[in-house]
Amino acid sequence: MTAQRIAVIPGDGIGKEVVPAGLEALRATADRFGLSLDFDTFDFASADYWQKHGTMLPPDWEQTLRAYDSIYFGAVGWPSVVPDHVSLWGSLLQFRRVFDQYVNLRPCRLMPGVRSPLAGREPGDIDFVVVRENTEGEYSSVGGRVFEGTDRETVLQETVMTRIGVDRVLRFAFEQARRRPKRHLTSATKSNGISITMPYWDERVAAMGEQFRDVRLDRFHIDALTAQFVLHPEWFDVVVASNLFGDILSDLGPACTGTLGIAPSANINPERDHPSLFEPVHGSAPDIAGKGIANPVGQIWCGSMMLEHLGHPEAAAHLLGAIEDVLAYGPDHAPLTPDLHGTGTTAELADAIAQRVRER
Ligand code: NAD
Ligand code: IPM
Ligand code: MN
Repeated sequence: MTAQRIAVIPGDGIGKEVVPAGLEALRATADRFGLSLDFDTFDFASADYWQKHGTMLPPDWEQTLRAYDSIYFGAVGWPSVVPDHVSLWGSLLQFRRVFDQYVNLRPCRLMPGVRSPLAGREPGDIDFVVVRENTEGEYSSVGGRVFEGTDRETVLQETVMTRIGVDRVLRFAFEQARRRPKRHLTSATKSNGISITMPYWDERVAAMGEQFRDVRLDRFHIDALTAQFVLHPEWFDVVVASNLFGDILSDLGPACTGTLGIAPSANINPERDHPSLFEPVHGSAPDIAGKGIANPVGQIWCGSMMLEHLGHPEAAAHLLGAIEDVLAYGPDHAPLTPDLHGTGTTAELADAIAQRVRER
């Protein structure tokens, strides 16, 4: 079998700690299933690269990354060195746009052994997936400042929704819902206050719904939806949202399942015209970077999503099963990290998961 090629970009902060942990689990899984995966690591998309070169990416980054089947990404952002909007628009947001990764798939699941901060919630109560629009919407570069420095200073940034852009992510979300037992899709909106783009979003949701009459469809305004995520997370199955709303929901969802540290995400180009990118939902976590205590599970779970995307569903399920087994041992029996109420380190938890991959 010819090897599948993975571009590895650790990035900043805990990205540099959780990516090696993720690679350990991926290598163990590849060995177990006889998969041939080649990994090449790149130092760009990081504050270190910025300090050396004054840019986040080399000029030929697109050509370089295009040669890979997937991108395995840690986190980028180190605001003490480079402003976040510069580092993010100079790297991750470029990857998403140039590689047309218009779906950002973000599962939220309360795992056995993990304590939800929501009282009385058990595994099985929280199991939904956020489908986030990933290339347009509120994340736009249309806008600017005028009358700068005067008392009429005005700042404007437009939300952009295109019919193609909205319809394609909605179609993906409906298809996801159709594949799951509950066949339930929730749309996040705010058409009561955002009076042009959000009614358009609702309109396209309704139109797409006509093609998916077997999927139960409902919608919530984003403010009410955040409340229901906390009060009734069991209501949700697939949640589709614009770029910004999806960003917010995909931090809140994992927080309800115990910790942001376990949440994975897949930035997908479903047509496979471009490489897809797999990264945890969390960022570079400057507050804990360098301490060796970052939870590697989000990054490892991303490896499972990547294996699935690369056409290895059994290996993907096996790796996810190993994560679930180790979490289920609980903090008294497994080296879970502090965010999971344990005293384990990133490396210890990664070793335990890789070991479980080999033995289960
Ligand atoms: P963050 O996700 O880095 O951290 C938020 C909180 O969650 C922190 O208290 C952190 O310690 C905790 N946390 C995050 N991941 C954890 C893990 N694996 N284990 C244990 N605890 C974890 O968000 P932030 O602080 O808003 O952002 C920090 C930097 O990361 C910024 O530069 C931001 O722009 C960037 N960022 C990048 C990405 C990305 O690359 N996809 C995502 C989010 C934020
Ligand atoms: C994420 C992050 C990014 C986003 C930031 C760092 C630009 O929060 O991947 O969720 O908002 O998309
Ligand atoms: Mn985010």
